Amino acid sequence: MQILFIGDIFGRPGRTIVKDRLPEIVRQHGIDLIIANGENSAAGFGITPALAEELFDLGIDVITTGNHVWDKREIIDYFQMVEGNGGGPQRRVLRPANYPSDMPGWGVYEGRKGKISYAVMNLQGRVFMASNDDPFRVADQLLVDFHAEATSEKISIGWYLDGRVTAVLGTHTHVPTADERVLPNGTAYVTDVGMTGPYDGVIGVKKELVVGKFLNGMPVRFEPATGDVRLCGVVIDCDEKTGKARAIQRLTLC
Ligand SMILES: [Fe+2]
Ligand SMILES: [Fe+2]
Repeated sequence: MQILFIGDIFGRPGRTIVKDRLPEIVRQHGIDLIIANGENSAAGFGITPALAEELFDLGIDVITTGNHVWDKREIIDYFQMVEGNGGGPQRRVLRPANYPSDMPGWGVYEGRKGKISYAVMNLQGRVFMASNDDPFRVADQLLVDFHAEATSEKISIGWYLDGRVTAVLGTHTHVPTADERVLPNGTAYVTDVGMTGPYDGVIGVKKELVVGKFLNGMPVRFEPATGDVRLCGVVIDCDEKTGKARAIQRLTLC
């Protein structure tokens, strides 16, 4: 089974490159299952129901998120439209599983592709981020999107879950890291998949605005950058009998 994971899709530039390039990736790599982080798809901040459905229409199976999940309030109503593990599109948008359990939405999705069953879990780190439940203990259960700031926390959860999940894929920092590998017990790992969006900026935002904020500390409304749009993802070759990864390959398409 070939699994494609697409890193943080940022604003319209990110959505457009996914739309333009996804069919060729699927063809070239024989992709069976597509998961994408969509926490920045609405102009960098959050995701709306309409944008989630636009991504599903492109063939994405499950959308993960992170600390930006609540930026667009409509997503709360969307989550409240489903009960249980139904196959509806609302159920296939995840928020981190280690948020308080009475928050709207779900952190795990269990689905099927043909005869193969799979599970996706979204987790958020606690280092330099909001304090959530312990992501290590919540994860004790297939493919994990670990949305975290600190590389040490990400690498640690990779080792902690090695052999128990197909992949631990880092998101959130928006910069692809060159450390993709299959850990000794069969878990594919990368510290950060990298953003799918404009690289002519600072992690997706117009560079003048962010540089200005560093210079003068004044509040500023962040707007998505537009240039140098790249799609960053990883393809995981997975043995569907054991759930173990055989290989992980990093993709960057311009
Ligand atoms: Fe992000
Ligand atoms: Fe994030």
